[in-house]
Amino acid sequence: MQPSPTSEKDTEPGRPQATYRFRCIGCASITSSAAQDFRCSECGNLLEITDSSWNSNNPTALKSLWRERRTLNATLDLSGVWRFREFLPAPQSEQSVITLREGNTPLYELTQSSRRLGIPRLYAKHQGMNPTGSFKDAGMTVAATFARQAGYRWVACASTGNTSASVAAYAARGGMRSLVLVPEGKISWSKLSQALDYGALTCQLRTDFDGCLRLLQELVRRAPVYQLNSINPFRLEGQKTLALELLEQLDWQPPDHIIVPGGNLGNSSAIGKALLEMLDLGLIPRLPKLSVIQAEGANALVRTLREAGGKNLVSVQAETRATAIRIGNPASWEKAVKVLQATGGACEQVSELEIAQAKAEIGAEGIGCEPASAVTLAGLKKLLRQGFVKPEQTVVLVLTGNLLKDPDFTMGFHRGDLFQGTADERESGRLNPFRHPPVVLDASLDAVIKTLEQAEKSDPPHSNV
Ligand code: F0G
Repeated sequence: MQPSPTSEKDTEPGRPQATYRFRCIGCASITSSAAQDFRCSECGNLLEITDSSWNSNNPTALKSLWRERRTLNATLDLSGVWRFREFLPAPQSEQSVITLREGNTPLYELTQSSRRLGIPRLYAKHQGMNPTGSFKDAGMTVAATFARQAGYRWVACASTGNTSASVAAYAARGGMRSLVLVPEGKISWSKLSQALDYGALTCQLRTDFDGCLRLLQELVRRAPVYQLNSINPFRLEGQKTLALELLEQLDWQPPDHIIVPGGNLGNSSAIGKALLEMLDLGLIPRLPKLSVIQAEGANALVRTLREAGGKNLVSVQAETRATAIRIGNPASWEKAVKVLQATGGACEQVSELEIAQAKAEIGAEGIGCEPASAVTLAGLKKLLRQGFVKPEQTVVLVLTGNLLKDPDFTMGFHRGDLFQGTADERESGRLNPFRHPPVVLDASLDAVIKTLEQAEKSDPPHSNV
């Protein structure tokens, strides 16, 4: 990268194409093109995008350029991803970019949780406020653009729901067709309905996410479809912009901790890559610690680190109600191990009850998120108890999906039947103070007033943690 903010024209999108290469994360061999499966032809490991021409000649000018673009109306500047195009591989032209004005997501103060936990500086970066309701859009705008540029008519993914919604939307916007493979009965209706509405060919396979991904890997070798899972390194380049935008929102003062949910581990890898690149280019003076939280029932990374020292993957048979992260064989585990080690972050797991409570607490802040995102708050509580996070530190939770993504979970929780018939049923009673079940009444003023008075008398909810 050669940031030259003063001379740059708005129509010049990103870094010149010739400057980026694919680098294998295993044997470090460098190539100018990648095979369909995005794996190294030498050793079979995953590829990442690298740019040998980067230098840090003017971080201050780059920061003002990015800020200035927020006031402009050019297509690329309206995207919170392409606004940071110096950090992205360059598409052929501005017109070749497929965008839904992704990114530009809010950074909220979590005031109630902050008070309850005694951490004055606690924030949530809400990626669920993206066009299709999840963080996937930030990566999809880049990967879909490169798919169309490479001449593909079909794009495809395996998904626990959010990727499929995003793939389907960006394919539709870009005039491509999409094939999505999802585990039958294991993704929320809300996400599935998005894929249908955006026109995807939707296959509900009788397997889990890991089975869908395995099948996709074989499919891309046999059919001319371009895979848009996070194995695709263009996805991760786009997802890096979450970290750039976050740091901009914090006036380039790095937080002490960034906490992110872990599933297939693409997002943590992308955020970590961005942090390391920002440090390298002099955009930030030090690294935040990047921590990954998983559901106890889908804890492959936790076990990989604890039982194998991060050296080989310990796969699990995944089971969690946070279906977005119901993944037992995460593809990007090695990338995630590297960024955890480089930033000094932690890896923790949280229970189903802890996830449900944290989700209700984030909802009660007027913000809300889907279950997978709530692992971050549940994980933070654990990291605070362990002393890994100190109350005086600045903490950012990455909320990855919108509250509306999983209404079945939310309704089950508030009705009180989410844990019915499970081992957690008895203990789930302690979550009652967090429930707000609907009240069915006759349509009479008296009945409503009586209910209002009763509610006023009862303890305010969430007074206990
Ligand atoms: N949060 C949400 C809401 C997700 O949808 C996902 C992954 C994650 C967290 C985990 O991110 O995989 O990068 O570690 N969803 C994928 C999907 C797998 O198919 O939608 P990750």
